[in-house]
Amino acid sequence: MEKVTVKVREGYDILIDNGILDKCGELIKAVKPTGKCAVITDDNVDGFYGARVMKSLEAAGIEAAKYVFPHGEASKNHSTLLGIYDFLAEKGFTRSDYIAALGGGVVGDTAGFAAATYMRGIDFVQIPTTGISQSDSSVGGKTAVDIAGGKNLVGAFHQPRLVICDTETLSTLTDEFFADGMAEIVKHGMIKSAQLFEILSNGDIKGNLVEIMKQNVTIKGKVVENDEREKGERMLLNFGHTLGHALEKYYGFKKLSHGYAISIGMSTFTHIAERRGMCSAGVADKLDALLEKCGLPTTDPAPLHELFKISLGDKKHLASGMNIVICPEIGKSEVVKMSVDEYEKFLQS
Ligand code: GLY
Repeated sequence: MEKVTVKVREGYDILIDNGILDKCGELIKAVKPTGKCAVITDDNVDGFYGARVMKSLEAAGIEAAKYVFPHGEASKNHSTLLGIYDFLAEKGFTRSDYIAALGGGVVGDTAGFAAATYMRGIDFVQIPTTGISQSDSSVGGKTAVDIAGGKNLVGAFHQPRLVICDTETLSTLTDEFFADGMAEIVKHGMIKSAQLFEILSNGDIKGNLVEIMKQNVTIKGKVVENDEREKGERMLLNFGHTLGHALEKYYGFKKLSHGYAISIGMSTFTHIAERRGMCSAGVADKLDALLEKCGLPTTDPAPLHELFKISLGDKKHLASGMNIVICPEIGKSEVVKMSVDEYEKFLQS
């Protein structure tokens, strides 16, 4: 079992291994020796792993209750949240109890926000079961739900007490979902680690998942330690996301999943940066080769001027301009501040 510690607030461990799910009870008990556990999950994940997790919690002597909601982004809203609050209240959960979020990003973000707000905040544990949630969303304490005005518009920074990352759960994903989760890992290599990029480019990815995930969350954890609230360094994690978010919105969150959209965003920005001399020659081709190896797309026919208009409404963009993330080399990244006009010209080039 690998362990990565994130030193933010009271600090927490990310535990990574194949098959670690069956030990989740004892691992949780080590950080939460008392209190009841509410396992929050969706109907898909429950079918795969709900019983295993409940059995492990019971074996560790943890009193647990399970709440299951329908899978999919449409559930990441206030109705699901209210359902979770009612469930916690009915079961008599207090501030000494805690939530275990079992599933992908929708479960982690929604259950995490419930934990951030129920009784003004209770502890929670992340048990991510998808590529995106293991590689990115379970680490760093961003929790949120969607509202009509946009995705993730209501949320809180609430760090988990523990993250249990069972890389074996990725084996139940389709090739498309597996590829989707790889995009954030490639991103972490691009922005911070030529070594991780090299392992991904030249190694057997599926045969090396524990090591890859360890390096991946080490990078993410360090960035979060340095800048929990996204005032500076954490913005680097938005590499590929400015265009990626616009693409997701352009297609109404239907045609492109998050990983696919940011893959196109990373590739497009890197090609433009290379053309404008902001990035060394050859970086974009190496990035494309890795994205293609992972089964990810690098281009899309959506018109850039439409994506530009959508980007202007993104909550991450300050009135004073746009923070654009560029990788001048593999493993190096910087935030380039551009006015809206400069960003338009950048896209046009
Ligand atoms: N997914 C980007 C972040 O955690 O900041």
